[in-house]
Amino acid sequence: METRINRQWRLAARPEGMVGEEHFRWVEEPAPELTADGQLLVRTLYLSCDPTQRGWMARDTYLPAVAIGEVMRSFGVGRVVESRHPRYAAGQLVQAQLGWQDYALLDGDSPGLSAVPEGIEIPIAMSVLGITGLTAYFGLLEIGRPRAGETVVVSAAAGATGSVAGQIARLQGCRTVGIAGGPEKCRWLLDEARFDAAIDYRHEDVAARLAELCPRGIDVYFDNVGGEILDAALARLAFGGRVVVCGAIADYNRSELAPGPRHYLNLLLQRGRMEGFLVLDYLDRAGAAVAELRWWLEGGEIKVRVDIQEGLENAPRTLRRLFTGANLGKQLLKVG
Ligand SMILES: NC(=O)c1ccc[n+]([C@@H]2O[C@H](COP(=O)([O-])OP(=O)(O)OC[C@H]3O[C@@H](n4cnc5c(N)ncnc54)[C@H](OP(=O)(O)O)[C@@H]3O)[C@@H](O)[C@H]2O)c1
Repeated sequence: METRINRQWRLAARPEGMVGEEHFRWVEEPAPELTADGQLLVRTLYLSCDPTQRGWMARDTYLPAVAIGEVMRSFGVGRVVESRHPRYAAGQLVQAQLGWQDYALLDGDSPGLSAVPEGIEIPIAMSVLGITGLTAYFGLLEIGRPRAGETVVVSAAAGATGSVAGQIARLQGCRTVGIAGGPEKCRWLLDEARFDAAIDYRHEDVAARLAELCPRGIDVYFDNVGGEILDAALARLAFGGRVVVCGAIADYNRSELAPGPRHYLNLLLQRGRMEGFLVLDYLDRAGAAVAELRWWLEGGEIKVRVDIQEGLENAPRTLRRLFTGANLGKQLLKVG
């Protein structure tokens, strides 16, 4: 039998600044073989690029850090090549932590492994109907708790999570303001995703534009970015406003902790609330949430953009796109 070659990117160094190819090592070795009942061998088809991978490279977070020399951790979708598990058969599509490699040997009972639902295209299963959509859904609805007529501001609004969060806010009857980098992204927010207003933070004064667009303040700020944009949003918080701490991508490549937001005391003055969440804590309710997201998607209420790069050799470059803002919508890498 022909030997299958497993191409991999392994972590070579912990990044201190911007993540790049120099933090990884390319390795080629024979693909693993099944050695026990319950295992499956999966051929990677698509890898998900997620800002949290920068954290996994650097330190222990909600998951232990990727060890130096270990295959870079990454969520992905693949096809089962061989199976010694009763629930999975060769040819089936599955989603799991596959890592930056062609072949992953998985324990069929591991909690993060599941079949890709029938009838859903892989990029959709990995974006709006996957972890990204669930992050937007639970973050906005459970933490932000928007009410009809309120003003909801979203940062990284043309990104995977932000674009869905803003559109769910519109479906709750809210006025939506998206903040994104560059005119193309802002045009997409207005023309396709139907945000009520867009702010190009690279070319406009965010604080001035928020004052203009949110004269009665911000009721819900869905924050993907942190840094100065968070500060500008805190300064405009409405009475009883909520700040959803989804992420802080502006800080992920900093070598030192970011300075705290200067306007945090507005939480006191406005009786506001700022609360973080981790989507993994809501996965027991994923089924109903995916059903609702799918209903909106199929009804044309939610528009999705997926940005697909190709080739395992481009994995480090593709991850980096998230931090330069090169992606529009969910960043995926097609491997197989
Ligand atoms: N809490 C959770 O459970 C959870 C789960 C998943 C993701 N997240 C968080 O959600 C956020 C979005 O993740 P995603 O996967 O949907 O990625 P994404 O928004 O599709 O991509 C990241 C975007 O962030 C923007 N960005 C990058 N650097 C920036 C900076 N310095 N200042 C302002 N904007 C910057 C870029 O857009 P521009 O061109 O507009 O700058 C880029 O396109 C991240 O913070 C991530 O950590 C949280």
